[in-house]
Amino acid sequence: MKLVICDASSDLLGATCMPSLDIGVYLVGISSEPQPHFTLFFVYISFEQVPRQTKVVARNRIRSMALPARFADLKAIIAASYPDFEQNVTKAWSEILAELATVTKTINEEGVNYIPQVNFADLGNLPKEDVEKIKRRGSVVIKDIVPDEQAMQWKEDLKEFIKANPSVEGVPANDKQFFQLYWTKPQVQARSHPNLLAATVWLNKLYHTKSSTGSPKLEGVDMNVALTYADRFRIRKPGITWNLHPPHIDGGTIERWEDSHFRRCFDDLFTGNWKAHDPFELEGRLDARSSLYGRPNQSSVFRTFQGWLAMSETAPTQGTLRVFPDVLLSNAYIILRPFFSPNVPVSSEEIYDAKNWKFDISNSEFHGIYPRDGGYAGPNPTPALHPHLRLEETMTSIPKVNPGDAVFWHCDVVHSVEREHTGNGDSAVMYIPAVPLTPQNQAYVERQKACFLEGQRPPDFPKGPAEAGFAGVASVGDVLSKEGLRAMGLVH
Ligand SMILES: [Fe+2]
Repeated sequence: MKLVICDASSDLLGATCMPSLDIGVYLVGISSEPQPHFTLFFVYISFEQVPRQTKVVARNRIRSMALPARFADLKAIIAASYPDFEQNVTKAWSEILAELATVTKTINEEGVNYIPQVNFADLGNLPKEDVEKIKRRGSVVIKDIVPDEQAMQWKEDLKEFIKANPSVEGVPANDKQFFQLYWTKPQVQARSHPNLLAATVWLNKLYHTKSSTGSPKLEGVDMNVALTYADRFRIRKPGITWNLHPPHIDGGTIERWEDSHFRRCFDDLFTGNWKAHDPFELEGRLDARSSLYGRPNQSSVFRTFQGWLAMSETAPTQGTLRVFPDVLLSNAYIILRPFFSPNVPVSSEEIYDAKNWKFDISNSEFHGIYPRDGGYAGPNPTPALHPHLRLEETMTSIPKVNPGDAVFWHCDVVHSVEREHTGNGDSAVMYIPAVPLTPQNQAYVERQKACFLEGQRPPDFPKGPAEAGFAGVASVGDVLSKEGLRAMGLVH
């Protein structure tokens, strides 16, 4: 028997992961610390494989993650900010639930084929309907961004780096697979590869502005210029179960509601005009503050898409990414969820019927948000808190990728990592998001540049040993292109 106790959150893949070696029964509890905080934790006892349904029942016991009382006030402030709020969002809620029922059925039927796949070489000539599909579903596999041989060589070079520097920090500690490394040569080269930067520019340009010209917010913004956000990599081995990446959204937690700028991104949901909600509207994102509390591992930049570049073949069931592939609907549902309560038990079939939900802003709960490290984490949607997402059926694995392919998912997309890796080889990726030139992002890149030049970890990430002392750390000369130099703030 094996016992693992761990908290229920993590924002960046592997950052706080404690892989265990088997699967088993989750016992779930909520410990009440002295008010105002509650801490959610999992106690994980592993002794045999249990049916999937057992796990669902266990998760259904997570009922409440009340936040400090001021968050009830926040609901009242939001409600008072939009005319006829109760009436409009109640109508929207009912429509959203109906649309979710339809769309989730399609997602479940189509499986991995629901995730758009395109060739890097075709990005400039995609039919409009393909682009619209990518925008609605929120995720895309872009194939052959770099040659297979190049991506595989980067993986070998990373392995060499680790061998040459055995003290590098990684998890699990006794068999490291996820590394606190940011400035190895393969990472610096991959981020500055012209094709990868071109792919991220294409993704950045899926965003647009309603006002198109003349907005002071657009000063200093250029979606044609890609910036670099240094993150880490993983080389995940088969057979080990990763437990700590349940469905979640990065890039802002309670800030999605609490920050008045960020909240503007969801104006059309709060007015009840949910079908007009556009996750690709740019202006609201530009001054949205995604890290009000400065919590480590909380990205403070605007990433249009998160992403990773594959350095190995990875297929469904081999430890790949899973997504909820409808970003308009998941946004609509998750953002309005705190304003409604059910009248029936969450475990009953009636929970899916809109007539069993009522408008309710009497509590401080923002479902899936919980205190962590002096700030807040989540949203972590769960079957109990967000039943209409039908996560057990709709979280869809990314189709098989080859070395040199990349997957990107919109910054609002609900995503998770497969717990199992049943393949034969390692599943290796470098995390490389799409980041446009904006004043906020540029300011981060300036601070990040200083870290690069000193061999320190980038500003958003957990503090720890510098890389400067390791053999084989990249220098400016390893940046592959002039676009790459610009992306890192090394030239302007
Ligand atoms: Fe994530």
